[in-house]
Amino acid sequence: MSPTLNKHVVSIGGSKGGSAKTLTSHMLCQGLGLRKYSSILATSDARRNVRNDENRIYDTFSAKSDEALNALLEHFSNVEIKVTSLVVIDGGASRSQFDVELAKSSSLVLIPFLTAYEDIEVAIADVENLRVNLSEEDFELVRLLPSKYPTNPFSRDSTEKLFNQMFTDEHRQMMLPPVIEMNAAAKLNRPDLKEIPSDVNNLSRRLADQILINLNEDPFQYRERKF
Ligand SMILES: Nc1ncnc2c1ncn2[C@@H]1O[C@H](COP(=O)(O)OP(=O)(O)OP(=O)(O)O)[C@@H](O)[C@H]1O
Ligand SMILES: [Mg+2]
Repeated sequence: MSPTLNKHVVSIGGSKGGSAKTLTSHMLCQGLGLRKYSSILATSDARRNVRNDENRIYDTFSAKSDEALNALLEHFSNVEIKVTSLVVIDGGASRSQFDVELAKSSSLVLIPFLTAYEDIEVAIADVENLRVNLSEEDFELVRLLPSKYPTNPFSRDSTEKLFNQMFTDEHRQMMLPPVIEMNAAAKLNRPDLKEIPSDVNNLSRRLADQILINLNEDPFQYRERKF
């Protein structure tokens, strides 16, 4: 597969339910929009609702059927080299094989995880499953994303201890800076999206910047862009 193909697809996977896949998808699209990248949030989990209200600065799309998902991937694999538009695919839990197949069509694969023992255990198992089922080249696109990371210094300390105990150096190298806990961020996944607090926007922007840097994109290049 040519490296310029599928440069626009970020997939969000992981087999644990409630690991922040959907909220990460929304935050990423929100942050991309604030950086003047257009994006589409594609929901692939048939058990979830698509948020298609008009107030969002990103599009949403139902990719619940294989046909719809394949059409979307096909479309984005044909777009010319410059990345102005991305598709973020919210994977849905308990679908390890699906995650492997999706990773093969992605330019970046995120595994968000909450910071408790069992969540870390499952995230590591997911990474190892991708390692054995992907080519070396595709596996290099996999990133771990600590989510709902504590803001309190004492909890942060014990979280870091747990990370040191459970993750190998290699896992640490695949890890993006954490997304901190922010209850107001959940607003992004409500059907009646209204005003978004500035701290949620800042958190979303920070996440988008990390992702763009990992895609070798300059987060500021479309600063002056008008839609
Ligand atoms: N950074 C954060 N700060 C506060 N709450 C968070 C954060 N990230 C996730 N959450 C909360 O954790 C819960 C689970 O998140 P989310 O729905 O995104 O998980 P999911 O992986 O999509 O779940 P499912 O597997 O059921 O689809 C939600 O209530 C969400 O608001
Ligand atoms: Mg979800």
